[in-house]
Amino acid sequence: MSDFEQKVRDTLANPQNQGEMEDADSIGTVGSPDCGDMLRMWLKFKEKDGKKVIDKASFQSFGCQTAIAVASMATEMLKGKTTEEAEQMGAEELSADLGALPPMKIHCGQLVEGALKNALGKEPAVAPVDNSSSNTLAQSISQAQPKQSGKIKIVKLDQ
Ligand code: FES
Repeated sequence: MSDFEQKVRDTLANPQNQGEMEDADSIGTVGSPDCGDMLRMWLKFKEKDGKKVIDKASFQSFGCQTAIAVASMATEMLKGKTTEEAEQMGAEELSADLGALPPMKIHCGQLVEGALKNALGKEPAVAPVDNSSSNTLAQSISQAQPKQSGKIKIVKLDQ
C-alpha cells in the first residue's frame, strides 16, 4: 500500500467533523463533473480580535474515500482561520497532510476546496449545487443525478 493510501486509510479510521451542522452560518455544496460525487460543507463563524474567523466546519460527502479524508483534514485545518485566510486555501493546501494526491484524485481535493469556496460565498471552480437547507445532500444528489443515484455509495450521515 502506498504512503498516500495508508494516510487515507488512517484518516478514515477516525474521520473528523462529519455530519450536518444544525447551527451553521453558511453552507456550500458542490458536485464533481468528473465522477458525480458531491460534497457539502457547513461553516460556523465567530468574532475574534475584531475579525470574522471560522469557529467550526463540518462536512457530508457521498463520494470517494479521498474526498472524505481531505474534508476531514480540511475541516480541522479551517478552525480559527479568518474568512480571508480560508478563501486563499486551495485544494493542495487543504489536502497537504495526505501528501501529493495521485493524478486521478486531484479533483477530490478540488471538491473540498469548491465546497469551502461556495460556503464562503465565492465562485467555486467545480459545479455548485443547490444549498437549500430543506434539501438533504441525498435529495440534492437524487435531483442532480437521478440516473446515477443507484451507484452512489452512502457514507455515515450521523456524527
Ligand atoms: Fe471523485 Fe474522489 S471525488 S473520485
